Amino acid sequence: MRTAARLYTGPMLRTGETVELDVDRLAYGGQGVARHNDLVVFVRGAVPGDRVRATVRRRKPRYAEARLDEILEPSTLRRAPVCRHVADCGGCEWQSLDYAAQLQLKQQQVVESLEHIAGLRDFAVEPIAGMEHPWEYRNKMEYSFGTDPDGRLLLGLHRRGSWREIVEADECRLASAEMRQARQAVQDACRTLGLSAYRRTDATDDDGDGEGPLRHLTVRRGVVSGDLFLNLFVSRRLPQEQQIVSLTRSAGCGFTSFAVTVNESPADAAVGVGPFMLEGPPFFHETLAGVPLRVPAAAFLQTNTVMCSRLYETALRWAAPAPDRPAFDLYCGIGSMTIPLARRASRVTAIEVQEEAVDAAAENLRGNGVSAVTLQAGDVRVVLKGMLPLPPGEVPATVITDPPRAGMSKKAVARMAALGADRLVYVSCNPATLAGNAALLAESGYVLRRVAPVDMFPHTHHIEAVALFEPA
Ligand SMILES: C[S@@+](CC[C@H](N)C(=O)[O-])C[C@H]1O[C@@H](n2cnc3c(N)ncnc32)[C@H](O)[C@@H]1O
Repeated sequence: MRTAARLYTGPMLRTGETVELDVDRLAYGGQGVARHNDLVVFVRGAVPGDRVRATVRRRKPRYAEARLDEILEPSTLRRAPVCRHVADCGGCEWQSLDYAAQLQLKQQQVVESLEHIAGLRDFAVEPIAGMEHPWEYRNKMEYSFGTDPDGRLLLGLHRRGSWREIVEADECRLASAEMRQARQAVQDACRTLGLSAYRRTDATDDDGDGEGPLRHLTVRRGVVSGDLFLNLFVSRRLPQEQQIVSLTRSAGCGFTSFAVTVNESPADAAVGVGPFMLEGPPFFHETLAGVPLRVPAAAFLQTNTVMCSRLYETALRWAAPAPDRPAFDLYCGIGSMTIPLARRASRVTAIEVQEEAVDAAAENLRGNGVSAVTLQAGDVRVVLKGMLPLPPGEVPATVITDPPRAGMSKKAVARMAALGADRLVYVSCNPATLAGNAALLAESGYVLRRVAPVDMFPHTHHIEAVALFEPA
């Protein structure tokens, strides 16, 4: 059930008009929310408790978006940002807000999504799990190449709201010291070799430079193993590849693997053909929730190793697998939850679409001595269709599902419900799609019993949550 936003009928508020506003909450996505008479106004950069002056940039019938001009009275929840790039980069804009307040807001947003989007009530909410040291928590950084106004090569993060401009972000506090050093070393190596950043050419671009080869660098770090995997994304193979590797090494960067991946498409994403290994193995090691794993270059891994233990612990406890009953692990990735699940169930069916991740899952199952798993490569929606209806002895006690941000399709949800499990545990990185899928599960006879938010992404608006559903 969706609550309809009311049409604003108060005095006109026009684009370009400047107003004073009291911000009282944060919207999912991180913008401050204020009201002007009855009209909702979103103000990026404002936090609850701020009184601000802002100029309306966009005016819609039901809301307006305004640019923050000045903080007239700062909120008591405001904190001095730790990172000096906060105004430019926008990667972790919540750092202006007290960490305890961030946690409270995230918890509130999970509950509001489930109540307002799914129309659900009467479920228990566990207090959100926060980090003791909420910095340097990412085990993966994705940097992009660009050029500064003087034409110098840059390797960094996208400027807030821009797909073209890059901020060097050499002190980014979401990355560890090793990752920051790797970024610096690769940037310096590419500058020394006179390489340039990729950019799309078009009819207006007639300076004859053409496209440079450098696109992205992903740095993945095994927090427990200390492994460091560098993957350089280029538009074409380069004669200087080995020189980049040696210069990076001689700058003191202790990587364990260095690869290049070729992305010939115009899509601005760290994807492509590869990895072509220049040094080290095509994987790194990480231990999640006590399970040692081999992670291939392009496979998904929960990005916060410390909080992943909390996430998995809750998911497995709520899943409560039975030793004499089967279980399912949907969207299983490289098998990180499949392994502990299989140790407590009679057999696990694990489904994953990415080929590389499926191979890694098979390897990780072997490496951890786990055999009672049927690994199915394919789309969850299609694989489940082929399995239904299940013979009576195969009905699982429990299903864990952990889809990407977009959530599960309608058919995938219906087929998951048709498995007839006693418990469904939904791990979500997007409260809005969790709520949409929860509404579908309610139609299929599953009731939301409890939800536990886990702060995997401090200082950003991203929210992770585990939800337990049981038959009505
Ligand atoms: C959020 S990750 C979760 C992975 C794993 N459960 C973990 O904790 O690391 C989602 C996974 O779903 C896979 N995936 C995406 N769409 C899929 C689909 N339609 N069917 C099966 N797997 C899919 C992705 O490749 C990715 O490994």
